[in-house]
Amino acid sequence: MKKYILFVVLIIAVLLTGYIVYANNSHKEITNMEGKKVLIAYYSYSGNTKAAAQKIQNITGGDLFEIKPKKEYSKDYNTVVDQAQQEKQNDVRPELVENIDVSGYDVIFIGTPVWWYTMTPPVKTFITSNNFEGKIIAPFCTHGGGGESSTYTDIKKLAPGADVKEGYTSYENSALVSDIKKWISKI
Ligand SMILES: Cc1cc2nc3c(=O)[nH]c(=O)nc-3n(C[C@H](O)[C@H](O)[C@H](O)COP(=O)(O)O)c2cc1C
Repeated sequence: MKKYILFVVLIIAVLLTGYIVYANNSHKEITNMEGKKVLIAYYSYSGNTKAAAQKIQNITGGDLFEIKPKKEYSKDYNTVVDQAQQEKQNDVRPELVENIDVSGYDVIFIGTPVWWYTMTPPVKTFITSNNFEGKIIAPFCTHGGGGESSTYTDIKKLAPGADVKEGYTSYENSALVSDIKKWISKI
């Protein structure tokens, strides 16, 4: 009888150890940001990029920072489309309401809508007013059908000292938590 109990206890111990190893590994798959200080900085005009940023925040537990231009863009779509085109042509970098010190962060997620095939002017200001030397940048963007265009290559150009990872691109408000997790586990 004693032998039988010992055998059962042994089986339970083996199964438990197996489960703990499995649970730890499946956890690691989505939390490779563990031990890293993470910032998610984003600009969003109509909410899509904000929603993606919030999903990234939920997954990573990082700090969220909204990039806001001092002078808000017009609510009128055509006006903002024209203004954005002018700003792209003139390489405008609008003043921001506030900046954030990125020096204490290891990984900085930078999110932007695609405007005229690239990042938005407030995101340009954010990148050029901070020092990303030695930092990991994980860029993400939302678009209206044209894809990322030159968004990520332009971000790389503005932050030459950073290790800019592969970006995560989604159409309008279609960013999926499962896809974001897959992306994060690769970067
Ligand atoms: C001024 C302006 C320019 C845009 N240019 C593009 C573009 O070049 N390519 C594209 O696919 N979508 C373009 N869009 C669509 C937005 O990228 C898309 O709707 C995005 O998801 C909006 O993100 P938000 O809700 O965070 O502002 C543009 C939208 C605006 C307002």
